[in-house]
Amino acid sequence: MNSFSRSFTSLFLIILFNVSRLPSVDALLRAPPISAEKLIGALNLFPNQPINIVDGVDLPFIGRKIAERRFSFPNLIDPSGVSAEELGHHAGYYQIQHSHAGRMFYFFFESRNSKEDPVVIWLTGGPGCSSEVALFYENGPFKIANNLSLVWNEYGWDKVSNILFVDQPIGTGFSYSSDRRDIRHNEKGVSDDLYDFLQAFFEEHPELAKNDFFITGESYAGHYIPAFAARVHRGNKEKEGIHVNLKGFAIGNGLTDPAIQYGAYADYAFDMGLIQQTEHDRINKVLPLCESAIKLCGTDGKISCMAAYLVCNTIFNSIIARVGDLNYYDIRKKCEGSLCYDFSNMEKFLNQKSVRAAIGVGDIEFVSCSPTVYTAMLMDWMRNLEVGIPALLEDGVKLLVYAGEYDLICNWLGNSRWVHAMEWSGHKEFVAAPEVPFEVNGSEAGLLTSHGPLSFLKVHDAGHMVPMDQPKASLEMLKKWMKGSLSEWNGDAEVLVSSI
Ligand SMILES: *[C@@H]1O[C@H](CO)[C@@H](O)[C@H](O)[C@H]1NC(C)=O
Ligand SMILES: *[C@@H]1O[C@H](CO)[C@@H](O)[C@H](O)[C@H]1NC(C)=O
Repeated sequence: MNSFSRSFTSLFLIILFNVSRLPSVDALLRAPPISAEKLIGALNLFPNQPINIVDGVDLPFIGRKIAERRFSFPNLIDPSGVSAEELGHHAGYYQIQHSHAGRMFYFFFESRNSKEDPVVIWLTGGPGCSSEVALFYENGPFKIANNLSLVWNEYGWDKVSNILFVDQPIGTGFSYSSDRRDIRHNEKGVSDDLYDFLQAFFEEHPELAKNDFFITGESYAGHYIPAFAARVHRGNKEKEGIHVNLKGFAIGNGLTDPAIQYGAYADYAFDMGLIQQTEHDRINKVLPLCESAIKLCGTDGKISCMAAYLVCNTIFNSIIARVGDLNYYDIRKKCEGSLCYDFSNMEKFLNQKSVRAAIGVGDIEFVSCSPTVYTAMLMDWMRNLEVGIPALLEDGVKLLVYAGEYDLICNWLGNSRWVHAMEWSGHKEFVAAPEVPFEVNGSEAGLLTSHGPLSFLKVHDAGHMVPMDQPKASLEMLKKWMKGSLSEWNGDAEVLVSSI
């Protein structure tokens, strides 16, 4: 998600600067975003190579699609002394089927509660940011202490699910290829790879295939998640492979319907007192042009999508120019350092020899956020991913859209608007449904609107990364949503019982 910050602004500025001699889209996609890399590289959060292109290195797949190992992190502070076997923690590579030499890295943590718990997959956005950002700073089993020890996360999502953290698209995190042709440019490439991975994963773990399955993620995953959900649903319908028990998908502070969400930037910034009315009106003058550019881009446009990206991002950049060093993932905070958040402990942690040996990644450079993957996906940015969702709702696959209220970049207002505007058979009832408090631990943690398979949750006291800012509420949200009891808002029975 942090390239979502840096590259977002810097790349755009570079492009805008050169607008008189705009390179062809192909050239743009082939060329690494040099200045963005320089900027990012200076922060020591990015590797020397913009993408993990690895020659002559491979892992022992021994005729299999998946090479997976049980492991335990060497620096885990572990009061009860459980073994790697008991932990049920796995790291693996999947040999991507429809690729030349793509290898997808993932972590798989068995539930601390029960193997019967649902299987959940988490996707971090970017595009091009590693899901390890979430693993170590949001909803993984542990957090990194300042001395680089790992401490258990009391609110890790592995408490209620068997959870997968996947590095994708190819070139992200520890995922790699030795062939540049494997770089993905759109949601078809992304969702096919994820579907193929899931099939291989359930082949490897057939006992889990019968469990409920949920897709979750954040930020640019507002694109990945609906595409992946639709891909899984189609695979099920067409009896393509192992049946996946897809029950729902959840998008946290995502970018899903750009036309509506870009229209909400200035309104949100004005509502939150970041800009004046006159600035709001001036910034939104470009909105009609942005909206028609997005319309041209549609769901599968090409060069028109690049045009839309250029035009529409003047809105976001004008706001950023007004608000200075504000953290646009959390407007309560200042942007500390050029990344707004400091994730350097993760880099330090994952670059330790003992850690790399434990998870079997060899010398592969860890990419927190890959500028190459980001740039390669630029034409995907403005495409509307809302269009595939109604069909899923009609077939009973449920959707939760949640958003921390202090995030600007994928703000709750834009998300609420597209969710409310979406046409499906329950549209009228959803729009008429009351907003009710979502209570956690006896206090209001958010405001919930739901009808049938669709829920929208505005999360209080949180920015872009909800599980980081509100770990307990986010775990409660996941647990209740998966059980279908998210809207039972006044019955906090469990809390009562445990505090008796
Ligand atoms: C490292 O930090 C953790 C958490 O603050 C602490 O429990 C642990 O004792 C520390 N380890 C060392 C070796 O200082
Ligand atoms: C839950 O509520 C109790 C009582 O108000 C409080 O002491 C505790 O810190 C709360 N826990 C969390 C995680 O918010």
